[in-house]
Amino acid sequence: MSARNQTARKTTRRRTEANKPRLPGDLEHDALVERMIRVDQAGEYGARLIYEGQLAVLVNGPKGETIRHMHEQELRHLETFDALLADRRVRPTVLQPLWHVAGFALGAATALMGERAAMACTVAVEEVIDEHYARQAEQLGGDEAALKETIEEFRATEAEHRDIGLDHDAELAPGYPVLTGFIKAGSRAAIWLSERV
Ligand SMILES: [Fe+2]
Ligand SMILES: [Fe+2]
Repeated sequence: MSARNQTARKTTRRRTEANKPRLPGDLEHDALVERMIRVDQAGEYGARLIYEGQLAVLVNGPKGETIRHMHEQELRHLETFDALLADRRVRPTVLQPLWHVAGFALGAATALMGERAAMACTVAVEEVIDEHYARQAEQLGGDEAALKETIEEFRATEAEHRDIGLDHDAELAPGYPVLTGFIKAGSRAAIWLSERV
């Protein structure tokens, strides 16, 4: 077969692939992955704002350096999901402006309650994100190996953040069970909403 024929055949095959009617299973899979990227971008955005809220209060305190370190890592996470959102043309959540305000407010409010409360906030949020990423990694197959790897890598960092919180006396914060229970419920609600709108 001539080279030209071979090229023509390849082009036809490509065209046929593109025109192939999509199966309901494909659409469900794409929708699932889109939803994951949308909620993860929202979550990393919220995390960035929480740490910015904490830094606004505690930047010059003894925990400033630790919080700044976690904030740096959230910026890397957010950059990655911002790029994925753009690459795959996924619409960001419409709730982004709300997460901006709520994230910052949560970070600043807990920081104003004290360093231990700020660390308790970190423990609560990161524990929920850790569970969330674990569930996502479980759902992703080999066709999304790169995304799965990213999620697993980020999950490890979030678990590290939770441990940093625990190492910095989060559990000694006044009203720790109530405070973390409240923040966890809010974080789960934010995840639920960001997956949907
Ligand atoms: Fe993160
Ligand atoms: Fe984190």
